[in-house]
Amino acid sequence: MMSNLVVHFLTRNANRLHAMRWIRSLHIKMPIIHVPAVFMFGKTSSVRSFSEKVSSTSSKLISKSGSDNGFNKVQAIFASDDGKFVNVSWNDGRVTHYPYIWLRDNCRCKHCYDFNLNERVFSLKDINASATLHFSELAEDSTLKLHDTSGHTTVIHPSWLKDRNVGEIRSDPLIKQIHWGSDVMTYLPRFQYDDVINNSTTLYKWMKCTKEYGLSWIKGAPTQNDELRTLGKRLAHLRETFYGVVSRVESKADPFFLGYTSKELPLHTDYTYGANIPGIVFLHGIKCAPSGGKSWLVDGFKLAKDLKKNDPTAFKLLSTGILNYEMNGFDIGPQFDHRCNTQVIRVNWRGDVDKIAYNDYTRTEYLTNISVDDMPAYYEALTKFISMAYSQEYLLEAMIEEGDIVAIDNLRLLHGRDKFEISDGKGRIVESICIDMDDFNSRLRVLSQSS
Ligand code: OGA
Ligand code: ZN
Ligand code: ZN
Repeated sequence: MMSNLVVHFLTRNANRLHAMRWIRSLHIKMPIIHVPAVFMFGKTSSVRSFSEKVSSTSSKLISKSGSDNGFNKVQAIFASDDGKFVNVSWNDGRVTHYPYIWLRDNCRCKHCYDFNLNERVFSLKDINASATLHFSELAEDSTLKLHDTSGHTTVIHPSWLKDRNVGEIRSDPLIKQIHWGSDVMTYLPRFQYDDVINNSTTLYKWMKCTKEYGLSWIKGAPTQNDELRTLGKRLAHLRETFYGVVSRVESKADPFFLGYTSKELPLHTDYTYGANIPGIVFLHGIKCAPSGGKSWLVDGFKLAKDLKKNDPTAFKLLSTGILNYEMNGFDIGPQFDHRCNTQVIRVNWRGDVDKIAYNDYTRTEYLTNISVDDMPAYYEALTKFISMAYSQEYLLEAMIEEGDIVAIDNLRLLHGRDKFEISDGKGRIVESICIDMDDFNSRLRVLSQSS
């Protein structure tokens, strides 16, 4: 076997000095040289080129000598002529294809990976990205040992490899979305506060609902101030903003923004004036107004999807034009001056809408990334989008009752409230907290594993 490896190696490489270094390193490091002949015959293979392909003879030969008849065992490893790609042939008939550098990057040898940390422990600055594959071994447990031109032996375990398709996006249990219209309350699940607080399965179901609909509704929460902190503790650490951790939305004597008045609060997303904005906003009904104050909620992803279908030009304008938002002033902490440029409909690298941002009262006069000639069309598109949001098909009108907690995906839903009355200085009180989407997603993934 050793001489086979050497011959193969020498014929594939012009640089014989380099080759000799390799051969020396084989003597020192490679257990393959010392393993019994039967093992070498069956479970090791020099790198073969793709042009040799898996001939029926060679695959038969290898499988015949294999001691394991289970599935997901590697039978043979083949390299492209330039050593940059690797094909792996499995005993269930599959042949999978990898760039060698990707396997190198994911090497599980003790120098490259720490299984206690579950982390890579080398830096790309320390590897040679041009290294190519010279020859391979298959250990008895089917572990791949790939020897490359830089002198490194990449170790890959077949159990790791069989679950991975190079180039594929990582799957995530969180991506399911249920788009909804104005009738959503006829089928949206309701959750009891005590259940969410005391029962992990209910907590999971409620969080999952929040993710799927961008909206969830809890009933029966105590109406005392700061109760949201108890809910927050079930989730993760909460996001503190200039409003504080728990903000109290009520009609104030000296309001610094529209939310702190009793006026209508038009449909909007929160924190449009920030780049790294809270993903989920919670509204807790503490006290209803004597009259008015109904909430408005709209699924912005459904709006965007329907707009794209019915008026692709308007969709394109809203996903291209950049609006500017600002929020400045004082609340409970130091003075702030937040600003952000963002499109109304943000499309990600996959072509999916991943953020809706709109707010009339924090929007400034700046409109960019659209020609002046296109601005009339832009305003038409924007007006159409907002009119759709207020239409019977999309607008959910519902009262946040005392003891209700509504969770809102702030990257997806538009929300607002009708004007309300205050009497004798006693008015409506809604408290609010928020959490970063990353923290919410992380908690949901953890719960999904145990539910
Ligand atoms: C807000 C807000 C909701 C409400 O302050 O941004 O959306 O019901 N408030 O007052
Ligand atoms: Zn390594
Ligand atoms: Zn709001």
